[in-house]
Amino acid sequence: MQIIYPLSDMTCWSRETITSGKSIALVPTMGYFHEGHLSLMRLAAQVADKVVVSLFVNSLQFGPAEDMNRYPRDLERDTRMAENEKVDILFVPAGEDMYTVDFNARVTVGRITDTLCGRQRPGHFEGVTTVVAKLFNIVKPHFAVFGQKDFQQVSVVRKMVRDLNWDIEILGHPIVREEDGLAMSSRNIYLSGEERVKALCLYAAVNHAKKRVAEGLMDAGQLQSEIRDIILTNSGVDIDYISIVDKDTLSDKEVIDAKSVLALAVRVGSTRLIDNCFLGNNAEASS
Ligand code: PAJ
Repeated sequence: MQIIYPLSDMTCWSRETITSGKSIALVPTMGYFHEGHLSLMRLAAQVADKVVVSLFVNSLQFGPAEDMNRYPRDLERDTRMAENEKVDILFVPAGEDMYTVDFNARVTVGRITDTLCGRQRPGHFEGVTTVVAKLFNIVKPHFAVFGQKDFQQVSVVRKMVRDLNWDIEILGHPIVREEDGLAMSSRNIYLSGEERVKALCLYAAVNHAKKRVAEGLMDAGQLQSEIRDIILTNSGVDIDYISIVDKDTLSDKEVIDAKSVLALAVRVGSTRLIDNCFLGNNAEASS
């Protein structure tokens, strides 16, 4: 595995790779790898000849109240972990190269960013689409792999690619969970022992939803209210949203159908956690 820092070296490598007839899969990340990230790398290696993993803590997607400096970082550990996978390039661009002092461009996807996490975190998805657009232009991948844990992020990236006619196939990987069901996240390290136990209410909610829908429940409002009760049995857990939406448009559903997704965001102490599940056929929210 090679580590590339300069943007121009990355593009040069990609041009040579494409000229030699090989396909490239990109896995964009902000580092501090866990099994979720590694699973994305494995999927990338299955679909393409070469795998590029980008590691960049993107200032543009953090809100003013969100402390980007607190985001966990460990390049040495990440390098070791990526080396054990079939990763060809670890691309680690510098902040000042990605966002030069006169950087002013933004890539915005409307409507589907106005709901769920987009409503709670203004500007967040504009930061994501802008950095992902830059990464696509620098790395020139044929495939890009994203995790369904960030279900809205995958939908927004897919919409951007469709609307801007990028010839890139977006692949969504199912949520990777800890043994007890908590969705893996770089942010889980912020949880105290007690909070870690409370965080399991998300997985309990997901399982409850799947069970109730399998039993024939179709009333979205009823399911939301049952889930609210499950989550609020834990003191110190605040609900950001409990939403049942269409998997493509992200518009709210009143009646649960094969295209419905349950999306959850809660705060456990000061840590914001998300989870989701596809209510169509007991699978995770994939498209
Ligand atoms: P980051 O949080 O580092 O996540 C990188 C990728 O790993 C994302 O596609 C995310 O959905 C996926 N991922 C994280 N936890 C996962 C889990 N438990 N199961 C499956 N996939 C998981 O998401 C970002 O970075 C950034 O927004 C980024 C796309 C890199 C743009 O800056």
